[in-house]
Amino acid sequence: MRLKDKVAVITGAAQGIGREYALRFAEEGAAVALLDKRIEQARDVAKEIAAKGGQAVAIEADVTDEVRMEQIAGEVNSRFGRIDALINNAALYYDIDLADASISYGRKVMDVNVFGVLTATWAVVPYMIRRRGGSIINIASNAAWPGIAARGAKFTTISESNVRRAYYYGLSKAAVVHLTQAMAIDYGPYKIRVNALVPGVVLSEATLKSLPEQFIGVLREQALLGCTMEPRDMTGAAVFLASDDSALMTSQTLVVDAGRKLW
Ligand SMILES: NC(=O)c1ccc[n+]([C@@H]2O[C@H](COP(=O)([O-])OP(=O)(O)OC[C@H]3O[C@@H](n4cnc5c(N)ncnc54)[C@H](O)[C@@H]3O)[C@@H](O)[C@H]2O)c1
Repeated sequence: MRLKDKVAVITGAAQGIGREYALRFAEEGAAVALLDKRIEQARDVAKEIAAKGGQAVAIEADVTDEVRMEQIAGEVNSRFGRIDALINNAALYYDIDLADASISYGRKVMDVNVFGVLTATWAVVPYMIRRRGGSIINIASNAAWPGIAARGAKFTTISESNVRRAYYYGLSKAAVVHLTQAMAIDYGPYKIRVNALVPGVVLSEATLKSLPEQFIGVLREQALLGCTMEPRDMTGAAVFLASDDSALMTSQTLVVDAGRKLW
């Protein structure tokens, strides 16, 4: 077990890839706090972990609520005695509003996807500083790179409003990459590592909701490994980044995309 005795906080752990991070971290021996606004689903995941003999707690959380996030970090630390890892995974993705392309909606995306990363990190980091160690994993996206987003968008954007929403999401994930590097500088002296994990297109429920079916075949063709990706496929890299195997890795951006080439 690669995460034995570690404690991990995972935001957005009720469904999709976040759920898989939680299940896999528990299998690897970590105690897991599942934070999500979808509390019933998060509780089901925690029960699933407990039924397999793992340790998990589900906590209702909105990552944009600074005060509540501080309380939650305190609760997790009291319950499990430490916090070793944080996965900043919660984002507006499944919940993306397909009708609203206004700038005020763009601000909402930034609030969850960017400021939510800051809020969760600032809540958890004092407990890592105390112990002089920790691993923060920020979930970015290949949409952070405009060239990749634009080429991918050829298949998905069918209207001006879709293009605008792609801007908001891409901008938010580019900011996550920026924050990863800024935080790695800031927290390095405390031996806290900060890395970004970049999923390619993962066939989570959220993706399947918005992706045209014919694009799935295109994805397979574009991948050097000739396959599509399922949520579970992201978990090995997350375990690596949370484990001591990556002890001297910080400020890095790790892409897991089955070798998707877009040129
Ligand atoms: N699926 C993909 O292809 C893909 C590709 C690149 C990056 N990502 C990123 O991976 C992560 C997970 O993706 P997914 O496909 O599982 O998406 P998802 O939308 O199913 O999962 C996001 C989770 O975050 C939660 N959440 C949303 N807003 C929240 C808030 N304010 N506070 C607390 N929780 C909140 C949701 O309830 C949900 O459980 C996201 O950061 C997404 O941007 C996904």
